[in-house]
Amino acid sequence: MAQLVGLLWAWICLLHSAVGMNYEDGECVFPFQYENKMFYDCIKFKAKHKWCSVNATYEGYWKYCARDDFAKCVFPFWYRRMIYWECTDDGHKFGKKWCSLTKNYNKDQVWKFC
Ligand SMILES: *[C@@H]1O[C@H](CO)[C@@H](O)[C@H](O)[C@H]1NC(C)=O
Repeated sequence: MAQLVGLLWAWICLLHSAVGMNYEDGECVFPFQYENKMFYDCIKFKAKHKWCSVNATYEGYWKYCARDDFAKCVFPFWYRRMIYWECTDDGHKFGKKWCSLTKNYNKDQVWKFC
């Protein structure tokens, strides 16, 4: 059984190295461009686990996202006509607090729950 798991891992690693390079020491760069789209957080795209690019434009260097790698709130951010210095429940129908992942929510419209 252990042998089988080992084999499976080797196979998965091989598969990944064929696609690009796992760069665990790097830092996620947000936003990053991948296949002509911009991403502001770790993505689960063609992968089992969320990952990010360590270059502003994806060039084969990537890493799996650990807890500290996910995009963080950006303060202050601009939403409608207001500047926010902390998470807000404004505009959220269930009153859950959220924040913007860029300085300009009006333009970029990327966010997460706090
Ligand atoms: C992309 O990131 C990797 C890892 O940090 C680095 O070695 C490489 O030089 C970077 N590429 C560019 C164009 O900066």
